[in-house]
Amino acid sequence: MFRDSQAAMPDVKAFDNWYDRASVRSTPRRLVEVDDDIHKAFFPEHLVLHLSHPLIDPEDHKLRRYLTAQHLYQWLQFTTTFEVAVVGRATQLIADNGTGLTLSANSRMTAFQILVDEAYHSLFSLDVQHQLVARSGIGALEHDFGPFIANLDAIGDDMPDHRVLVQLLQVVVFETLITSILNDIPVDESLIGVVRTTVRDHAIDEGRHHVFFATFFKHLWGQLDTRTRALVAGYLPNLIVRSLQPATAPAAAALLSAGFSEQRTKQVIAESYAQDTVVAGIRQSAAKTIRLLEEVGVLDVPGAREQFLTHGLILERR
Ligand SMILES: [Fe+2]
Ligand SMILES: [Fe+2]
Repeated sequence: MFRDSQAAMPDVKAFDNWYDRASVRSTPRRLVEVDDDIHKAFFPEHLVLHLSHPLIDPEDHKLRRYLTAQHLYQWLQFTTTFEVAVVGRATQLIADNGTGLTLSANSRMTAFQILVDEAYHSLFSLDVQHQLVARSGIGALEHDFGPFIANLDAIGDDMPDHRVLVQLLQVVVFETLITSILNDIPVDESLIGVVRTTVRDHAIDEGRHHVFFATFFKHLWGQLDTRTRALVAGYLPNLIVRSLQPATAPAAAALLSAGFSEQRTKQVIAESYAQDTVVAGIRQSAAKTIRLLEEVGVLDVPGAREQFLTHGLILERR
C-alpha cells in the first residue's frame, strides 16, 4: 500500500508552544460566571435549521429557548463521545506507531498532544452541559451516538483490508473541517459566556490540529500506491457527506418532548433537513478539506472529480 514507508513526515511547528498554549495547559476550568448570564441564548438560532421552519412560532420564546438548549446539549454530547471514540482512536494509531508509516518521535509526540487536547474537549463539553443544566433548570435529553458512529464506520466495510487507512481518513476529514459552530459562536455576544469561551478554547486547539492533519494527509497521500489512491479518491466523497450529515434524531426528540405531535415533528424535520439544504451546508463546512484534497491531487485521480460533483461537494468542473 505504501511506496516508501521510511520517508519522513515534516515536523509541525504549530505545536512548538503547545505546553504554553493548549487549552488544557493554559486555561482555567470554565464556569457559568454570573447569575444573569444564564438568561442569554444557548446557541445561535441561525445554526439550528429547524428553528426557521414556519411551524416553529417566531414569537414563542420559551419554545425557541428550549429547542436551542437541546441543540447545544446534543452538540456537547456528540463532542464528548466523538472526540475520544473517533478522533482519539485514529490519533492513537499515529501516536503509538500503528499506521504502517514510519513517523519521527516528534510527530508521535504531537499526536499524543492532540490526544490530550481531545480528551480535554470531551471532558469540558460534558462539564459545561452539566453546569448549564444545573443553572438553567432545562434538563438535557440524552442521545446515543452509537448508531452515527456505526454508520460512519460502515462506509469502510467494503475496504476490510484497509481498516486503519479508513480510520486515518476519517480523522483527516473531521480535523480539517471548518464548522460554523467553531467560527460563529466565539464572537456572538448574545450567547451564554461559558458557551462562547469553551468553543473559543476548542477552536484555537483545532487550529493547531488542522495544520497537523493537513501535513499528515499530504504525507500519507504521497505514500499511497496508485491502486490505493484510486480507492481512497472514490471513498472520500461518501465519507465527507456521511460524516457531516446532521443527526436529525435529537432534533426530533426535542420537538416531541416540547409537545409536537409525531406527524408535525416528521414534517418539520423533513422540510428543515431537505437534502439540498443539508448538502449546501456540508459543502461550506468541507470547503477547506476539499481544497486540501485538490491541492494534493485527489481530484485528479480518474473519475474522482465526477464523484465530488455527484455528491454536491463541488459545483462545477474546475
Ligand atoms: Fe476537539
Ligand atoms: Fe481536534
